[in-house]
Amino acid sequence: MDHFELRDGVLHAEDIPLPQIAAEVGTPVYVYSRATLERHAQVFRDALKDVPKKHLAFAIKCNPNLGVLRVLARQGYGADVVSGGELERALASGMAAEDIVFSGVGKTRAELAQGLDRGIGQFNIEHEPEGAALAEIALARETTANAVLRVNPDVDAGTHAKISTGKAENKFGVGIDVAPQIFARLAALPGLNLRGVALHIGSQLTSLAPLEAAFERVGLLVSDLRAAGHSITHVDLGGGLGVPYKPGDNPPSPADYGAMVARVTKDWDVTLMFEPGRVIAGNTGVLLTEVLWVKPGASNPFVIVDAAMNDLARPALYDAYHDFVAVKPTGEKMTASIVGPVCETGDTFARDREIDAVQAGDLAVFRTAGAYGATMASTYNSRSLVPEVLVDGGRYIVVADRIAAGTIMAAERVPDWID
Ligand code: LLP
Repeated sequence: MDHFELRDGVLHAEDIPLPQIAAEVGTPVYVYSRATLERHAQVFRDALKDVPKKHLAFAIKCNPNLGVLRVLARQGYGADVVSGGELERALASGMAAEDIVFSGVGKTRAELAQGLDRGIGQFNIEHEPEGAALAEIALARETTANAVLRVNPDVDAGTHAKISTGKAENKFGVGIDVAPQIFARLAALPGLNLRGVALHIGSQLTSLAPLEAAFERVGLLVSDLRAAGHSITHVDLGGGLGVPYKPGDNPPSPADYGAMVARVTKDWDVTLMFEPGRVIAGNTGVLLTEVLWVKPGASNPFVIVDAAMNDLARPALYDAYHDFVAVKPTGEKMTASIVGPVCETGDTFARDREIDAVQAGDLAVFRTAGAYGATMASTYNSRSLVPEVLVDGGRYIVVADRIAAGTIMAAERVPDWID
C-alpha cells in the first residue's frame, strides 16, 4: 500500500497534487511519501513480531537521502552501510552509532578505522585478511571491534544475475564450507569480538525458498561453531525481499517472510539482524517526469520523457520494469515505447508497452522508484543531478537540490599547460 493516489483525476502524493511539485520544483524529480515510508517501516517490524531479539538496519544504499534516513531513524531503524560516506550519512541523519552495521566487500583500512573511531555497532567481515586488519587497527586503538563473518551459502537466489550475491562464484563472503576454520582463526585474534555470522544472497527475491535454504545452512553452521566452543550471539540475515513492480506481481509479503524467519530460526537463541532496503523504500517513491515529445516509430510511437537513464538506471542496467502512469489519466490507452533524451538505445524505460495515453506536455510517473533510484543517478550527457522531494501530508520539502550541470562543470578545470 502507498499514498500515491488519484484524487479528482489527478495523481497526488499524500495531499499534494503532483502538478504542483512539477510547477514549483521542475521535472524530472523524485517524490517520496513520508506516510508510505513509515508504514513500510512498521509493516516490516510487525512482520518480525515472533522474533524475540532483533535489530533492524536499513540498507541505506537503496535510498541514502538524509530526509528519508531521518524518518527511518525516528522509526527506530539503524543502518547497514557499505562505505565511509554512507556511515557519515547514517550518523548525520540521527541514527545511533551502535545501530550501524558496516558491510561491504572492499572496505579500506581507513574506513575500518573510521568505523571504530565512530563507535559503530558491528562490522560484517567479508574475508580473513579484512578481519585480521580490523583486529590490528582495533588493537592499536586499545579497543575491541564487534564483528560477524559473512558467509556465502552457495544458494541460487533466483533473481537477476547482476544482483545475486549468494552463489559460490559471487565475490561476497567466505565459502560456508571453509567458514569454520576462518572463524576459528579470526575469533582467536585480540581486538576482535567475533560474535556471529552474516549472509545476504541477493536482492529483489520473489520466492522465499532460496532464503529459507540459505538460513537453514547458516543454522547448521551456527551449531557447528557452537560445538567448536564459539559463542554465537548474533546472526545477520541481510535483506533481499522483493517488491511488486508490475501490476500482477505477487512477491512474498513481509508477513510471509517474518513467519518463515521465525520458524527456521526458533532454536537459534541469537539476536537476529536484518538489512531491508527495497521492501522499505521501493514503493515510497515515484519519479515524476514530463512528456517532451511523442514521435512516430517503426511500429509504435516513442514517448520521449524528460527523465533518462541517468536519473533512473534500473531499466537500462537490469531490464527492470517500472510502471508508468499519467498524472492526469484520460482513460485512453496507447501502445508506445518510453524513452529518455540520452543518446543511447539503452535509454529505454519500456518497449511497446500499453500505457495511459499521453501527449507532449503531460506529466507522468515511474512508480516504485524509491529504492535504487536517485541514489544511482549520474550526470551522464551533462544532465543535472535529479532532485528529491519528501511529502508529508499537505506539505513538502526539497530534500535534495537539483545540481545543475554548470555546478558540476565548475568543479572541473582545464590544465593551463594545454595551449
Ligand atoms: N544487505 C546487503 C549486504 C546488500 O548488499 C544489500 C543490497 C542489501 C542488504 C539490501 O537489499 P534489498 O533489501 O534492498 O534487496 N541496484 C540494484 C540492487 C542492488 C542490491 C545491492 N545490495 C537494483 O536496482 O535492483
